[in-house]
Amino acid sequence: MAESTKHATLTIGDKTVELPIFTPTAGPDVIDIRKLYAQAGVFTYDPGFTSTASCDSTITFIDGDEGILTHRGYAIGELAEKSHYLEVCYLLLNGELPSPAELEDFEALVTNHTMIHEQMHNFFRGFRRDAHPMATMVGVVGAMSAFYHDSTDIADPWQREVASIRLIAKMPTIAAMAYKYSIGQPFVYPRNDLDYASNFLRMCFSVPAEDYVVDPILSRAMDRIFTLHADHEQNASTSTVRLASSSGANPFACIAAGIACLWGPAHGGANQACLEMLKEIGTPDRIPEFIARAKDKNDPFRLMGFGHRVYKNFDPRATVMKQSADEVLELLGVENNPILQVAKELEKQALEDPYFADKKLFPNVDFYSGIILEAMGFPTSMFTPIFALARTVGWISQWKEQLNDPQLKIGRPRQLYQGADLRAYVDIEKR
Ligand code: CMC
Repeated sequence: MAESTKHATLTIGDKTVELPIFTPTAGPDVIDIRKLYAQAGVFTYDPGFTSTASCDSTITFIDGDEGILTHRGYAIGELAEKSHYLEVCYLLLNGELPSPAELEDFEALVTNHTMIHEQMHNFFRGFRRDAHPMATMVGVVGAMSAFYHDSTDIADPWQREVASIRLIAKMPTIAAMAYKYSIGQPFVYPRNDLDYASNFLRMCFSVPAEDYVVDPILSRAMDRIFTLHADHEQNASTSTVRLASSSGANPFACIAAGIACLWGPAHGGANQACLEMLKEIGTPDRIPEFIARAKDKNDPFRLMGFGHRVYKNFDPRATVMKQSADEVLELLGVENNPILQVAKELEKQALEDPYFADKKLFPNVDFYSGIILEAMGFPTSMFTPIFALARTVGWISQWKEQLNDPQLKIGRPRQLYQGADLRAYVDIEKR
């Protein structure tokens, strides 16, 4: 970490504490409060981490006011247009874009790890058919530590590499198997002659009776969805992975924890919740009613796919996703699909409404990704598993960065205790 050149002075009663300030490559200055408790005997209070940097990182940067998202310095829009998912994976993991030979090796490595241990098929069969694919994924990814013992030792750099590649390579297979199992169709094995996105589409939509021929436009759109979800700085699921890992937990357990956190509707579950909301609205004439509910402080309803903790101008991922949605809908000839009509009209009316403008609530990535996935033929229950498979590389990159950090400590927040004071136990007959 760089030396601090500035200090903040904090005065509490008669005590004065000097706190170092670090200036990052980009983003606001950060006050280092690590010694605050030792020096002043106080904690800081920030339950939703709205003003707290939990780590230092060189992977991803977001400027929410300007609508900027970069990976290793490259803008997401440029990566989505000129690069592709596996190249972005290499970039996130290694810090630099690969040379042609490095990319070829990396793609071959990932491709050669896409199959899962055959015994895991039986493990899948232990789940109920109607289980949500995210529930299955949390269980199966957690269980990878029981099937791949030889890559769970985090002290061994080689095992860390193997676990990373295994997770990135096997996640599409696991997500597709969770889907196939839920609809009662046989599992489809991966094929090494297909690219990452095409392979996933085929594993989801092919059946033994009829092979699925992947349309290159759909494959490109799928790849873009993966690319746009690859990493997103210290969001809830990434922070969960880092916290789990800080105790020394194995990589499969950490990623399973990330998947569990991602599932919530305020995070990765928003894409499913958004599409379900559009279906509930049903027809454009009902939009004002739902907008009124979203604005009503006494109604817990929120417009799903709108708003973001960090982006207060626009979500740069949503800009690319919207363009991709238009391409896919045109290709599939479903521009007049009623759900899509509702989506377009809702976007228009919400953006014109001062409530949303004043609170800086714009459509986020989940608003458009659900529309594309629905048009491609995925059920809503698969939206969040697709987000999870794409985000795996981000979780892994952050996990690896954390393990290489010489300052690594177990994550252990403190609290503002507001419970009962110390009191004497009361025997049961006296209560
Ligand atoms: N609909 C209506 N009002 C909203 C919405 C919404 N979608 N989002 C925020 N608000 C209001 C909220 O009621 C609050 O109003 P007030 O200041 O009067 O109390 C204000 O805007 C700020 O909201 P907040 O909950 O304090 O903001 P946050 O930063 O804690 O929450 C969020 C961010 C994404 C959880 C929230 O905007 C939300 O619940 N959106 C819907 C769910 C969603 O689309 N999530 C996907 C996020 S993008 C994918 C990802 O990264 O996971």
